[in-house]
Amino acid sequence: LVQVMRAVVSMKIDSPVGKITIARPKALNAVSMEAMQEIVHASHHLDRTDDVKAIIITGEGNKAFAAGADIKEMASQQYSEAYKRRFMEGWRELRDVRKPIIAAVNGYALGGGCEVAMMADIIIASENASFGQPEVTLGVIPGMGGTQRLIREVGKSRAMEMILCGRRLSAAEAEQAGLVSRVVPQDQLLPEAYRLAAKLGALSAPVIAKAKDCVHRAYETSLAEGLRYEQREFWSCFALEDQKEGMRAFLEKREPHFTDS
Ligand code: HXC
Repeated sequence: LVQVMRAVVSMKIDSPVGKITIARPKALNAVSMEAMQEIVHASHHLDRTDDVKAIIITGEGNKAFAAGADIKEMASQQYSEAYKRRFMEGWRELRDVRKPIIAAVNGYALGGGCEVAMMADIIIASENASFGQPEVTLGVIPGMGGTQRLIREVGKSRAMEMILCGRRLSAAEAEQAGLVSRVVPQDQLLPEAYRLAAKLGALSAPVIAKAKDCVHRAYETSLAEGLRYEQREFWSCFALEDQKEGMRAFLEKREPHFTDS
């Protein structure tokens, strides 16, 4: 078990799970540029750590996952500065993490917080979680994927109401809309995230990475191209020892033992 405290983000490795915690509870885990860089850096570090098979992102405390980008930091920013320092552009790099990312949303996921959650592969939420894109109330628009991802998760009308009117979804509404995969009592959130991550940890890492990669294609390409991509990746699984092991184990009525090869 390895625990690394950075300035505003902590990282804990408890094989096969790596957990990243946004740790600015006094500011409801608002994400500054520094926090973003640390989260992205920690994600890539965990992605390259062999005994980590799944990554959990959560927020410290029982009130917020992340209440958005840091408004204090943004308040006096000029366009030229945002452009030059590529304000919040680094989030894109989360897309390149191969290992599955679980967002354990433990309270407010607003603005950039909702967008970070949507960059994860699976969102689970505590009963007190809520999701929203209140940027317009601050005179800006979502800037880390909110206008693109939310519509695919909750449909156009609901996404428009959230983005144009600042409507928040409760955890129950988010589950009903399909934004989150399950809602659990707050004290069960991390145990549930760890259970999910451990399940992923027992599977073949290259197979899980291929499956995640293919699902991403559904967002990024046409259906025809995505289907061709999936077909090729499916065929390539037969080059893996883990495919032989998985199918052999089924036929021999035993648990598979995957070796990531
Ligand atoms: C900086 C924040 C913050 C934020 C909360 N705080 N959200 N600081 N940035 N996004 C701070 C408050 O200033 C306050 O600090 C402390 O956290 C507690 O917050 P309160 O407002 O007192 O708590 P409460 O009354 O319970 O209200 C909770 C809340 C509210 C509803 C979540 O804090 C809120 O509306 N926050 C802003 C949410 C938001 O608009 N997010 C979108 C940001 S824009 P003090 O020092 O007073 O104790 C964005 C753009 C993304 O995310 C695009 C990036 C590319």
